[in-house]
Amino acid sequence: MKVTVRVPATTANLGPGFDCFGMALPIYNEVTIEETVMPGTGIEISILSENQEEIDIMSIPTDKENIVYKAVELLYNSIGQIPSELKITIKSDIPIAKGLGSSASVIVGGLVAANELLGRPADEAALLSIATEVEGHPDNVTPAIVGGVVIASQEEDGSVVYRKLNWPDEWKIMVCVPDYELPTDIARSVIPKEIPFKDAAFNLRRSAMLVHAISTKDEELMRFSLTDKLHQPYRMKIVPGLGEIINNLKHENDVLGCVLSGAGPAVIVITKGNNQERIKDIVKNTWSDLNVKSDIHILKVEEQGAIVLK
Ligand code: HSE
Repeated sequence: MKVTVRVPATTANLGPGFDCFGMALPIYNEVTIEETVMPGTGIEISILSENQEEIDIMSIPTDKENIVYKAVELLYNSIGQIPSELKITIKSDIPIAKGLGSSASVIVGGLVAANELLGRPADEAALLSIATEVEGHPDNVTPAIVGGVVIASQEEDGSVVYRKLNWPDEWKIMVCVPDYELPTDIARSVIPKEIPFKDAAFNLRRSAMLVHAISTKDEELMRFSLTDKLHQPYRMKIVPGLGEIINNLKHENDVLGCVLSGAGPAVIVITKGNNQERIKDIVKNTWSDLNVKSDIHILKVEEQGAIVLK
């Protein structure tokens, strides 16, 4: 038996909501799991590019250390089974190591596909909890599973509490992807273990206001809310262009905010109105001045989370 699951990309944090806010985006990975007779270890993991060619990404293990396998193993273990004889194929359209939830998407894809193969023993809560355990934080895996814009929290018992927010249709998401990579573990390592109390209070105010701004389509409050003192200031040093882009966009009327996408290096610009091309040019030229090439996409929120294709 063989199951394929399509999972959206995600952007996390949305500025002040570190490890809490997340949003699904219409770029997708597909994960296929097939129960089959395999030689050797009993598992085979392949990663395919958009045009179906196998890609060899040195940083991604293709043995039992692979995060997809780990997630699938936890699911099997939760019902007292051990996975064996699995062929896992990942068709990857979500850029890797850019802060767009590519690892969350494959964890979720593997889990949902394995759950389907096993006759759906895990409910949404169990899938959220296993996916978060493997990923380490809930802000990418939650929208990858349920779609939309979410606020999510991992509790001490491993469960995940989340709520969806209604994102205003007229607010577009400009996803700006530079041509350099930044692995999440490096981007997390530059954040200090402790931060000043006043910075924590700053983020508390901003993230509370962000929820209100989204829920009430309050553009003025949105502009005020999309700022952060917990991670962006530290990551700016390893994300060339981020500070310059924020600075160059700060007087643009149609820009509601500009933040790092997850751990970066992609940047998310929230916009309204018809000035998209001008804003796109500002971002492209800012990176270009630093010899960085970029791809920029103007997207809407993906309301659909992971779906079983066949
Ligand atoms: N909240 C996580 C971080 C997202 O900022 O490290 C990683 O994609």
